Amino acid sequence: MSAPKHFLDLHKVGAGTLREILDLGSAIKAGKYMADGDTQLLSGKSLAMIFEKPSTRTRVSFEIGMKQLGGHVVVMDGQGSQLGHGETVADTARVLSRYVDAIMIRTDDPAKLDELASYASVPVINGLTDDSHPCQLMADVMTYEEHRGPIKGRKVTWCGDGNNMAASYVHAAQRFGFDLTLAMPEELSLPQEVIDWAVGEGANITVTHNADEGCARADLIVTDTWVSMGDKDAEARHNALRPYQVDARRLGLAQDDAVFMHCLPAHRDEEATAEVLDGPQSVIWDEAENRLHAQKGILAWCMG
Ligand code: CP
Repeated sequence: MSAPKHFLDLHKVGAGTLREILDLGSAIKAGKYMADGDTQLLSGKSLAMIFEKPSTRTRVSFEIGMKQLGGHVVVMDGQGSQLGHGETVADTARVLSRYVDAIMIRTDDPAKLDELASYASVPVINGLTDDSHPCQLMADVMTYEEHRGPIKGRKVTWCGDGNNMAASYVHAAQRFGFDLTLAMPEELSLPQEVIDWAVGEGANITVTHNADEGCARADLIVTDTWVSMGDKDAEARHNALRPYQVDARRLGLAQDDAVFMHCLPAHRDEEATAEVLDGPQSVIWDEAENRLHAQKGILAWCMG
């Protein structure tokens, strides 16, 4: 039996494969695999989704995506399953592998994702951990390219803290060949080894603690909520991140045709002003929609 095609992190999937997955998602979106008004690429397939953290986009887009591809889903939340009551990750992986064709997990602990993958005999998909959010990045790259063409060689600026999204942007910069500037407070920086990996693999990563400098001449500016799920030091984070707010003046430092993204949920007038989030350069609704299309590519690749 061949090894399952896990989608655990962008730096664990080859650049060529990531591009194939995106192309597949775009082709499905364009209706290429429609037959008799229907897409049945995953007919009869099933996906178990484990949520140990809240979600709107990930849950709905995976569930609707599977249904639109002819498959179906089973949703488990941590406390509502034996996983939340002492059954091991390894045993959960082995049991679910007997029932379903793939497993998606959202968990705070990246080690749990890796353990699940090592014991599952079906593909495991990372639906977010505290360390990374690769599905979101696939949607972001798809969205940028739909609006502005190839992302390769473009200047992308992450303006915020060094969280799981920032880490996945670093992985994506290496895999998709864009230049990434991380404008983030020193006290909320990304672990240096994440940056070192990308630089060691030839990526162009710049780190600055000056948000204006970071956003200057950017083709894409991205930010995220200041207090993510599980963060406890809300006040300190607000104080550290206030100088990194994306407002109209700061967006004006970017290229004239720059676009703005945010993975959502957003807090208007915190990480970005309402004027930017709801303004003409914002592509956040397309970005949210593309979770559905990019993940269909991931699902079809994993199980196809
Ligand atoms: N962006 C994102 O992952 O959204 P949810 O937390 O709603 O799934």
